[in-house]
Amino acid sequence: MVARLMRSTGLRRTGPGRWLWPGPGTAALVPCRAAGGPPSQSMALPGSEGDKLKTIKDLPKVGLWEMLYRMVFQGFYNRLHDLQIYEKQLYGPIYVAAFKTVSLNTGKLLEEVLRKEGKFPSRGDMSLWTDYRDMRGLGYGPFTEEGDNWYNLRALLNKRMLHPRDAIHYGPAVNDVVTDLIKRVRYLRRTSPCGTLVTDVCNNLYLFSLEGISTVLFETRIGCLEREIPGGTQHFIDSIGQMFENSAAVLLLPKWTHRFVPHWHRYVAGWDGIFNFAGQLIDRKVEDIERRAADEQQEVGGEYLTYLLSNTQLSRKEVYGSITELLLAGVDTTSNTLMWALYLLSRNPEVQQTLYEEVSGYASADPVLSADPVLSADPVLSADPVLSAEDVYSMPYLKAVIRETLRIYPVVVFNSRTNTEKDIVIGGYHFPKNTMFGFCHYAISHDEETFPEPRRFEPARWLRAARERPSPFGSIPFGFGARGCVGRRIAELEMYLVLARVIQQFKVEPDPAVGEVMPLGRTVLVADRQVNLRFLDRKGDQSACPSVEVPPGFTFNRRK
Ligand code: HEM
Repeated sequence: MVARLMRSTGLRRTGPGRWLWPGPGTAALVPCRAAGGPPSQSMALPGSEGDKLKTIKDLPKVGLWEMLYRMVFQGFYNRLHDLQIYEKQLYGPIYVAAFKTVSLNTGKLLEEVLRKEGKFPSRGDMSLWTDYRDMRGLGYGPFTEEGDNWYNLRALLNKRMLHPRDAIHYGPAVNDVVTDLIKRVRYLRRTSPCGTLVTDVCNNLYLFSLEGISTVLFETRIGCLEREIPGGTQHFIDSIGQMFENSAAVLLLPKWTHRFVPHWHRYVAGWDGIFNFAGQLIDRKVEDIERRAADEQQEVGGEYLTYLLSNTQLSRKEVYGSITELLLAGVDTTSNTLMWALYLLSRNPEVQQTLYEEVSGYASADPVLSADPVLSADPVLSADPVLSAEDVYSMPYLKAVIRETLRIYPVVVFNSRTNTEKDIVIGGYHFPKNTMFGFCHYAISHDEETFPEPRRFEPARWLRAARERPSPFGSIPFGFGARGCVGRRIAELEMYLVLARVIQQFKVEPDPAVGEVMPLGRTVLVADRQVNLRFLDRKGDQSACPSVEVPPGFTFNRRK
């Protein structure tokens, strides 16, 4: 029971929770008590330089009952990000948390581990995901692979994805999806009782992100932003939900019970739906490539999937495994970050104004748009020049807004590394091979020393002169090194284009009926309630409408 509770809360050594550890809350929740001396502004690392090396036994340790008490009675079970700050105050920068994971709470310690990682960094056991793949004889992807196989796979997947210039290549395709999102926002606000309100912003951004990443990966649109989502796509969306919803139960239950419980069957059915949908699109692309290759006149060109299928030695099974994992990693992360960014901008009008001044300074009219009489007559498209990927990449304030959003709400609040190759010394402590290190990203990016007034949304802190800028390891929302996020540049491209184009057209204001939104630890850091925002047309609406009661089920195409 005890172990189950811990696992359900993410405190577990296995599964994709390794980097997707659930996780915000308020500083006020965290009383300040010192264990072994007050954790002062600058926390001394015990056993650091000059001292004799200490071992894991010398570190403060969180007992099982203490941890349970915090989860159940102090209510940290879905606020593990707050727990990071709380425990940092209790134990300092390094301590042993649940299941012998060594928790690290400063950028300096994080840097030490990451700079010492070997050729094959490992996050730990991923059996939650690999069990299904093994059962069905499916291939692994970048998340689930380890060692040499992972290294070779990443070498192939990185190409056409990891560099900003690779991402710029996808600009036009992603921009089409952004245009559809803006059309949807216009439709939703127009049909809202006050003419400016969009309810459940997160769900709409989820549909955008899924459409965006599918466009990049499958080189085809799947219809998430259409008024009526095509049946196959809706089933795919439901399958993703079903797989994630049943993950916790599957983690909780011992493996031998699986075939007797409905959760495992639903979990498997969810994965089946995901793989079937992805498989069909991949198969269709293979047929297309074969047809084009057979026609000697036609050169086989294309984007990511075409590249994987025709320019690499990957088998189709490996492509299924990789594309599916890229897809799953690229939806909730991007959509929740965008939701937090819009929420923060709505509550910080001066920041929003600075961003607006930056984006409105760009007037690179889209040549295709202006030349096309139909497109240029479209009120959405012609409202403003369509900003390009090149435009948004040259906007420093826009980039700083995303960086600051990810500092305050690092959607992946917890991540880890296991030193699988050899013993390691961190913070003056000696750790044997196979020690799991937990990176408390939320506590690290809210460190007062690195980020004065850490709860303040201040994008300008990232624009200061280099030596005054925060330490790079103070906030690494995409991870670091060879095992860092492969989709970072695509995610940034999507987020830059959405924010720039939305703020170019709308002034975003909070819906007073919603109140203050707090983060909650699910697979990633999500809002604790439905977030509604007002989108005031910069060319039309003058002021916010009064707060209105939105009838339930008002939004269309809700994710079930
Ligand atoms: C705001 C958006 C995103 C954030 C904050 C984010 C964050 C992260 C983090 C923290 C990691 C772990 C890195 C490490 O262990 O050092 C990761 C890994 C990964 N991400 Fe992302 N990610 C985002 C978007 C995406 C997108 C759009 C994709 C797909 C195109 C993607 C694909 C992946 C994959 C496949 C891995 C595993 C890499 C490996 O183990 O080799 N992510 N991401």
